[in-house]
Amino acid sequence: MLAILGGSGLSQLSSLDHIRRTTVATPYGEPSGPLAFGRVGGRELVFLARHGEAHTIAPHQINYRANIWALKEAGATQIASVATVGGIRREFGPGVLVVPDQILDYTWGRASTFFEGAGAKVTHIDFTEPYSAGLRGRILAAAAACGEALAARAVYATTQGPRLETAAEIARLERDGADLVGMTGMPEAALAREAGLEYAALAVVANHAAGRGESTHSISLERIEVVLAQSMDRVRRILVQLAAG
Ligand code: HPA
Repeated sequence: MLAILGGSGLSQLSSLDHIRRTTVATPYGEPSGPLAFGRVGGRELVFLARHGEAHTIAPHQINYRANIWALKEAGATQIASVATVGGIRREFGPGVLVVPDQILDYTWGRASTFFEGAGAKVTHIDFTEPYSAGLRGRILAAAAACGEALAARAVYATTQGPRLETAAEIARLERDGADLVGMTGMPEAALAREAGLEYAALAVVANHAAGRGESTHSISLERIEVVLAQSMDRVRRILVQLAAG
């Protein structure tokens, strides 16, 4: 079953035929909200709003372990994560949709593994390719079927937030090889890999990153809202096509 983890601007999947909502408890505490099960083209899928249904959970306070655990328990085998990001590379301006293929992790202090705690065996996962190639391909194919152009490669840097970055931090991220910057990509992707779930992200560029393009001197939060509102219908269409396909 496909799971969709919705980010900022996507707290509901309104095109979903809702079947049921369930609140679940996990050994790691509560996920961000109830799981919403629905059907698209006869196929069941599950939706979870990463920041909570009322958008009240900040990126560093999300219980990533509970979210991934809950989706796995619910029967998810693949997670399409919708992520709002800032664009570092010039061509990644507001409204561009991207399926990243690599990750840099600058987060700290987040519970970032299932493999810890009393008696847990030290376990390492391979993370050379952090996203599932198969699911990335299916997202790209779904977008093509909808006539939506997606950028197929990018390095996604995950920062701690909730504040946005300084211009100097963005310059450093660019030197490190980052193309996009967001706050929720990690540890979500690594936990999905630990849990044995396919995971890929559909990133929505909401703004030029700090110091770039129209964000040379500041980032307009109002403009971010407008861009997200304009972009999410395209994202929903791609997700519905992905779910049905
Ligand atoms: N930085 C980090 N996260 C973001 C940004 C940004 O510029 N825009 C949307 N999410």
